[in-house]
Amino acid sequence: MRKFLSFKVAASVMAVFATPALAEEAGEFEYMNACAACHGEGGKGNGPVSSLMTVVSPPLTGLAAANDGDFPMQSVLAIIDGRADVRAHGSGMPVWGAVFNDPLAATVSGQSADYITRGRILSLAYYLESIQE
Ligand code: HEC
Repeated sequence: MRKFLSFKVAASVMAVFATPALAEEAGEFEYMNACAACHGEGGKGNGPVSSLMTVVSPPLTGLAAANDGDFPMQSVLAIIDGRADVRAHGSGMPVWGAVFNDPLAATVSGQSADYITRGRILSLAYYLESIQE
């Protein structure tokens, strides 16, 4: 029963993220929840929290331009899930990876939880790709 439930959850998560457009929409929701306070609405920088910090939260709309026009998908994924170290995001630990593990992923086990977490992070990265200027 548990196995069946996990499969159903994983299948529906994959269905939700099957098209980039839907993934972008889901990613925008994740972005507004977890990132906009610092990086600003639409990734333009200057979110409300950034004024309280000593390190400037950079706009995220120029990531592709800074990388010869190619959106740096791998490094963005690594920054979000914590594999890459960005000073303000905490160092050496998967700060956002842990955030995206909750709370839905906590209701399922093993690989299904992993799919949900990766799906959320990937949709966020698709959203960031969609706002590049
Ligand atoms: C508490 C404020 C804060 C939050 C919340 C935050 N960031 Fe950041 N972020 C920063 C700061 C500050 C930097 C620049 C760090 C530095 O230069 O050392 C940064 C850097 C980055 C970079 C690297 C930018 C570049 O030009 O190389 C990316 C990508 C990024 N953040 C993505 C995100 C995403 C995606 C989220 C949401 C999951 C997020 N950040 C949430 C403050 C924040």
